[in-house]
Amino acid sequence: MTASRHKHLSKRLINAVRHAHTMAYAPYSKISVGAGLYCGGRKIFTGANVENSSYSLSMCAERTALFKAVSEGVRDFRLLLVYSPQVNFITPCGACLQVLSEFAPDLVIASMNKREEFRFYPLNVLMPQPFRLSQE
Ligand code: THU
Repeated sequence: MTASRHKHLSKRLINAVRHAHTMAYAPYSKISVGAGLYCGGRKIFTGANVENSSYSLSMCAERTALFKAVSEGVRDFRLLLVYSPQVNFITPCGACLQVLSEFAPDLVIASMNKREEFRFYPLNVLMPQPFRLSQE
């Protein structure tokens, strides 16, 4: 999906994600990422990437946002917005797609670039066959 709007893409969500990326701890990659999950009840959970000197322990912005939401009892995800000023139209990594698909297999992912342009990607297009313990 290319640039158009989505009913849950609001200035509030954009501002939340812009703020979230400034909270990134990314001294190694120098890539700061912000994610915002728009949920039922108009709730927004944000996340930023948090790196570690033991590189593989780093956490992505998307999973930070998801774990914040789920651990506070919210699972009804309506839209995910991701943003990095260093990456044109960033999309979630495979690990984040797997974790997102557990809770919201039909989620739409919006990506914003630094010119505040948008691209939309259905999660089930980015990851058509996520791992499941039992495949029906
Ligand atoms: N990163 C995210 O936070 N989200 C993505 O969608 C891809 C990558 C982070 C992980 C790491 O801190 C940095 O970006 C470079 O890979």
